[in-house]
Amino acid sequence: MKIVRLDDLKPGMQLAKPVYSTEGIVLLNAGVVLKEPYIHRLRELGFPAVYVGDPKSASSVPEAISDTTRYQAMNVLQETFTSVKIAGTLNIDPIIDVVNTIIDEVTINRDVAVHLTDIRRHDDYTFGHCVNVCLLSVVMGLALGFDQLKLQELAMGAILHDVGKVMIPDSILLKATRLNAEEWDEMKRHPRHGFNVLRRCPGIPARVAHVAYQHHERANGSGYPRGLDIDGIHPFAKIVAIADTYDAMTSDRIYRKGVSPFVALETIKELRRRQFDPAVADAFLASVVPYPPGCKVELTSGEVGTIVGSCDSNQPIVQIERDGNGQPLLAPKELSLSQHPEKQIARIV
Ligand SMILES: [Fe+2]
Repeated sequence: MKIVRLDDLKPGMQLAKPVYSTEGIVLLNAGVVLKEPYIHRLRELGFPAVYVGDPKSASSVPEAISDTTRYQAMNVLQETFTSVKIAGTLNIDPIIDVVNTIIDEVTINRDVAVHLTDIRRHDDYTFGHCVNVCLLSVVMGLALGFDQLKLQELAMGAILHDVGKVMIPDSILLKATRLNAEEWDEMKRHPRHGFNVLRRCPGIPARVAHVAYQHHERANGSGYPRGLDIDGIHPFAKIVAIADTYDAMTSDRIYRKGVSPFVALETIKELRRRQFDPAVADAFLASVVPYPPGCKVELTSGEVGTIVGSCDSNQPIVQIERDGNGQPLLAPKELSLSQHPEKQIARIV
């Protein structure tokens, strides 16, 4: 299984994962052999890439949450954001239900090394992003030993962290080019908008509202809107800040391609002391895989292959396609790096 960008997609390739609509309806199922009209339609719908390859190997890659839960959460968020936009308030019950499901699934799949495999349409960015930030935050909360109540409040804050963006005009939110100073000032108001909305909603704990308020604050005081320092930022907001940064970096946007998980993790490592809480950053770095399934890599032995799974965050299983001399193998073979300590990943190709 590998990610192939729409521009490189050819008729005859086989989908390895289903392609879903925003509502979670399967548009094309795993196993479908692509034809030109399908590729054309995917392009029209704004999908940047799809997974292709052997559907059997794709289904064997374990994920922290199911596709069903992911799309259920995105639907709930869509309704919630619409309600905030129209009525200025939201119903917290469906949010509680969906974060409880996410917490349950992440807890059950605790041993699954976290990788984010959703491929979003450009206009689905916000909801998919909020679900990923929630998932990554719960993973960090578990790693930090949070109890059920803390996990629930953290997850609610994480999934609603950007709710204030409904108050930002689409002309700024969806702008395909760089924001000017005035637009950027307006954009930086979304944490305060989110806080004001959530504080007014009955049944939402104050800590949840503070996550929305503080998720762009940074440990060295360089964040916004208040420039709080490490001691002034709530622990939940410190967690969501890292999840938000990571997912934003690795996501494709209209105006730029996302970076690889490996590059994003290196950046988090670099910012660990200055911008984040080091203990939270360490919990994150220990939980997320730098080489997700579908990523093509070269090993120190010179062999080239595709990541098809992982035993833990740094020891993936690689399907070797070329030997150390660059010759294609007649039959690709799977290699678990945990059983071959002499071989490591040299680079992403
Ligand atoms: Fe934000």
